[in-house]
Amino acid sequence: MKESSLEPQYFKLKKEIIPKTPKLRWNIGKCLVKRVQILYNKSVLELNITAKNSQGEETMLEQFYYDKADEIIAEHGKKQKALIPIMQDIQNEYRYLPPELLSYVAVQIGVTEAKAFSVATFYENFSFEKKGNYVIKVCDGTACHVRKSTLILEKLYKELGLSKEKHTTDDMKFTIETVSCLGACGLAPVLTVNNKVYPSMNPEKVAALLTELRGEGQ
Ligand code: FES
Repeated sequence: MKESSLEPQYFKLKKEIIPKTPKLRWNIGKCLVKRVQILYNKSVLELNITAKNSQGEETMLEQFYYDKADEIIAEHGKKQKALIPIMQDIQNEYRYLPPELLSYVAVQIGVTEAKAFSVATFYENFSFEKKGNYVIKVCDGTACHVRKSTLILEKLYKELGLSKEKHTTDDMKFTIETVSCLGACGLAPVLTVNNKVYPSMNPEKVAALLTELRGEGQ
């Protein structure tokens, strides 16, 4: 049933039922669910809830994100111990972990939102930040640092108009990250592009690599 066809039940739901339903109120209060289905007068009513984050920006994800999350949850089962594998699969799918989706997963598998977020922030590997098509990780561990990895990072920042504070290009093509060791110290200085290792880098090679990647994206 569409929201537009719900009147006056829709308003009854909003004013009377939602405020009295703790779990639903929690979901809506946190503004983290897009779709709410409620059995009301023997019909399933579907509401679209507008979500805003603390900055007042709309944070709604497209429905397919939730559908994909449902698929991933179904693969792992609705159990609390599946939290990390589910988060990993979602991040593999989107290259980041949409916070709205994490809240949705938490509700679905029965863990608190606080617990889900504390797990996600504990592991460095999880990121709430949307990333570009190419995630370039520049190693700045000791072996790479002494072989001038800083010059490589500076070249990338300059070419892409990025900085320590701005990690992703506006066109969402490139994200630059630094890491402390990629486990390939013998090949220093090293960077990876979407997990493919590029050894013995220097600023000239970086320029050539960006040209190649830009060409691929056309
Ligand atoms: S320090 Fe760079 S790969 Fe280990």
